[in-house]
Amino acid sequence: MYIGLDLGTSGLKGVLIDEDQRVLAEAVAPLTVSRPQEGWSEQSPANWIAAAETVMDQLATHGLSAVRGIGLSGHMHGATLLDAADEVLRPCILWNDTRSHEEAAELDDDPQFRRVTGNIVFPGFTAPKLLWVQAHEPRLWERLAKVLLPKDYLRLWLTGEHVAEMSDAAGTSWLDTGKRDWSDELLTATGLSRGHMPRLVEGSDVSGALRGALAARWGLPADVVVAGGGGDNAASAVGVGVVRAGEAFVSLGTSGVLFAANDGYQPAPETAVHTFCHALPGAWHQMGVILAATDALNWYAGLVGQDAAGLTRGMGPLQAPGKTLFLPYLGGERTPLNDAAIRGAFLGLEHATDRAAGTRAVLEGVTFAFRDSRDALAATGTRLEQLIAVGGGSRSDYWLQAIATALNLPVSLPAAGDFGGAFGAARLAMMAATGAGAEIATLPPIARTFEPDPSLTAAFDAGHARYRAAQSAIKDLT
Ligand code: XUL
Repeated sequence: MYIGLDLGTSGLKGVLIDEDQRVLAEAVAPLTVSRPQEGWSEQSPANWIAAAETVMDQLATHGLSAVRGIGLSGHMHGATLLDAADEVLRPCILWNDTRSHEEAAELDDDPQFRRVTGNIVFPGFTAPKLLWVQAHEPRLWERLAKVLLPKDYLRLWLTGEHVAEMSDAAGTSWLDTGKRDWSDELLTATGLSRGHMPRLVEGSDVSGALRGALAARWGLPADVVVAGGGGDNAASAVGVGVVRAGEAFVSLGTSGVLFAANDGYQPAPETAVHTFCHALPGAWHQMGVILAATDALNWYAGLVGQDAAGLTRGMGPLQAPGKTLFLPYLGGERTPLNDAAIRGAFLGLEHATDRAAGTRAVLEGVTFAFRDSRDALAATGTRLEQLIAVGGGSRSDYWLQAIATALNLPVSLPAAGDFGGAFGAARLAMMAATGAGAEIATLPPIARTFEPDPSLTAAFDAGHARYRAAQSAIKDLT
C-alpha cells in the first residue's frame, strides 16, 4: 500500500492505494487562507501539520500495516521560513500572494534569472518573497536558516530531513531548471546561499524514512520511505498519466493550469508560460497558470450568497457567451499577462443581468483565460491535441463543454476516482518504494469526452476577441 498526501490551498487530502493502484480510502481536512492585507495570502504551517494528523488518523482506521511508501504533493512557491532550530519564523507566504511584485520585477530585470531558470520571476514565486522579508522584516531575516516549500515542511515533520524535489524547486527562481540543481549565482543575488536550501532529489526518489514515532502512532511498518513527490501540478500530472510529450491536462482548482508534458527542456519565458522540471527524472513540463479558476467562482458564489455547486447545477446545454463579460483577475494574472496589479471586472451589465448570467460570465471568463494560456503554449511551439480535466471545477459539465469549444480541443473527464495530486503523490511513493518508473503512470479510464461544439465556435471566438479587447481596456484602470 502507498499513501499520497496533497497539501492544497483549501484542504489537505490523503489517499491510500493498493499495489494495483486501487484507491482504498480517502480523507480530507480543510484549510483556510488568511489575507491580513490587500494582496497578501498566508497559511500557518502548524495548520498543515494539524490537517495531516487529521487525515492520517482517518486513513489509519483502514489499517496501514502494509504501507511501504508515502508521497507528497503541495501548492507551490510558498516561502516557509525556519530558524536554525527548525522553528517557523512567520506564516508561510503563499503562491497567490502578490506583495513582492516590485521585488519580482527587480529580479526579473536581472537577465540571469530568466536565462538560468527559464522563467519570468513572477511575484508569486519564492525568491522575491525573500527580498521582501529582507526589506520589511529584517530581524526575522537575520534568524533565517532554511527556506522550505510547503510540502517540504510536511516532509521535515514526517522524516526530520530538509529535502526538496525538482518540480517544486523549479518554481522558486533559484533552480537551474535545465541542470536540475540550485544556482549559486541566483541564490547569491537574493542574499542567500546553498546552505539555506534543502537537499534536492527527483520526485520518484526516496527522500527519507518515516520517523519511528509517527510510524508507531498510525500503525505503519518501521521501514516506510517518503518519496520526493511533486509540486501539485506535476504530481497531478503523474496522477492523470500526463508524463509523455503530447499529453496534457487542464486543472480547474483554486488556480487554473493548462499543463503539457515535454521530452526536453524548452524554455520560453517571454510567453509567460512556466517551464519546470517534471516530477520524473529527465522530464520537464510547461504550463500556463491563471491565478483564479474555482477561486473566481467561489468568490462570485460568496457575493451572491449561494454555494458554487448550487450555481453550476442544472445549467443545461452550452450557450453562446452572453452580453455580460467577466475578467477573472481577482489577484492579478500570470499567463500571459504577468501583471500583479491588474484586477477583475464585470462588463456589459444590464437590467436583465441576473445571478445565472453572472455565473455563466464567470465560467466563460475563466475559460477565455485558459484560451490565452493555450495561445501562449502554442507560441512556444507546444500544440495541444486533447486535454484531461482535473480539479473541483471539472464537476461542471457546462464548464468543460465551454473549455472544449473555446479552446477547440476535446476534453476528457476521468471516470469516478481521484486522479489529482494526492493520487500522483501515491504513485510517486510506489515508484520510490519499488523502483518502478513512468510506466506505472498510466492514463485513467475516461468517463466522458466533451467535443468542441462547432455550432458555437464562432461565438466563442468572438467572445474571446471581446475578452482580449476588454483586457487591454481595463489594464490601466485598475
Ligand atoms: C503553479 C501555481 C499554482 C499553485 C497552487 O505555478 O502557482 O498552481 O501550485 O495550486
